[in-house]
Amino acid sequence: MTANKKLLILPGDGIGPEVMREVRRVIDWLGRRRMVSFDVSDDHVGGSAIDTYGTPITDATMEKAKAADAILFGSVGGPKWDRLGFDLRPELAILRLRKELDLFANLRPAIVLDPLVEASTLKADVVRGLDLMIVRESTGGVYFGEPRGVEALPDGQKRGFDTESYTTGEIERVCRVGFELARNRHSRVCSVEKANVMQSGMFWRQTVTELREREFADVELTHMYADNCAMQLVRNPRQFDVIVTSNLFGDLLSDLASMLTGSLGMLPSATLGAVQPSGKRYALYEPIHGSAPDIAGKGVANPLGQLLSFAMLLRYSFRMEEDAGLIEKACVNVLKNGLRTADIMAPGSARVGTGVMGESILRELDKLAA
Ligand code: IPM
Ligand code: MG
Repeated sequence: MTANKKLLILPGDGIGPEVMREVRRVIDWLGRRRMVSFDVSDDHVGGSAIDTYGTPITDATMEKAKAADAILFGSVGGPKWDRLGFDLRPELAILRLRKELDLFANLRPAIVLDPLVEASTLKADVVRGLDLMIVRESTGGVYFGEPRGVEALPDGQKRGFDTESYTTGEIERVCRVGFELARNRHSRVCSVEKANVMQSGMFWRQTVTELREREFADVELTHMYADNCAMQLVRNPRQFDVIVTSNLFGDLLSDLASMLTGSLGMLPSATLGAVQPSGKRYALYEPIHGSAPDIAGKGVANPLGQLLSFAMLLRYSFRMEEDAGLIEKACVNVLKNGLRTADIMAPGSARVGTGVMGESILRELDKLAA
């Protein structure tokens, strides 16, 4: 029934291909047990594309991405490609996808699952039940702002510079996503910037305030400086419902928030574009963890972040709520049964590798679908 849905898989580097293998097993399972199949294609990105094609992402891969209904991304980068220079970074693959597909809203949930409450480095009482959503702007700000560069100065020094910039439209469209999400949650948005030091921050604050007055008067809006937000996330993370922020602050704060949940290896994310007149919406899903070169190839990586990213894809892009729910439930059950990869290991639990974790998910899925 869903065979016409085009899914592009881009495993990338490091642990990307290992954890993606477990997703493919779940896709096969969906075909066998739920009678759903997709039109799946895959390709190299990042370092693996540099090795294969000589560039982090080819034009042909970009065309495939544009033709897909949803993209499942792994992770890119590693020491092997560190010396190639600024224009040949594996990271350019994800940056080009975000920019050219105009994927401006990066949704990064931080949820503490009950069985993992002890895996957090924070006290269980501080993080129990945490469920917050960071909406990070992902096509603007200092990541793409012009001018940027390194220039020679008359006195023989050099100067490196980047530009933080946001237009009214860029701020409004990402904040709208945050307000809409909040309506289906606890109706609270906290907008984060540095209005005390940055012009663009003051403009962000003013723009989001006006947007709320015009379109979202039913949602509570508060403002916080980014440094204070970092502190508050560690002090009392449950005060937040939805956080909306710029590209760079969102990059930092989402890494911080993910650790509240115990492991970077657990968390999925979605990056969404605008809904086009045809109804199509570009969307890319990826775990928050990177390529983790230190453990790549050892079979010990946690596949749950990648699997949960796939569940998010099923929910948001393919409207397959039931199948998404099954996968999420299977992940929680496996944790409840005491299985742990190294990153979330706890005393009294059984330490397993990537493959065994994946198999256990399939067994749980069998039980849930029985
Ligand atoms: C992320 C990553 C990327 C970013 C890198 C790989 C370019 O850290 O998705 O958070 O900074 O956006
Ligand atoms: Mg990051």
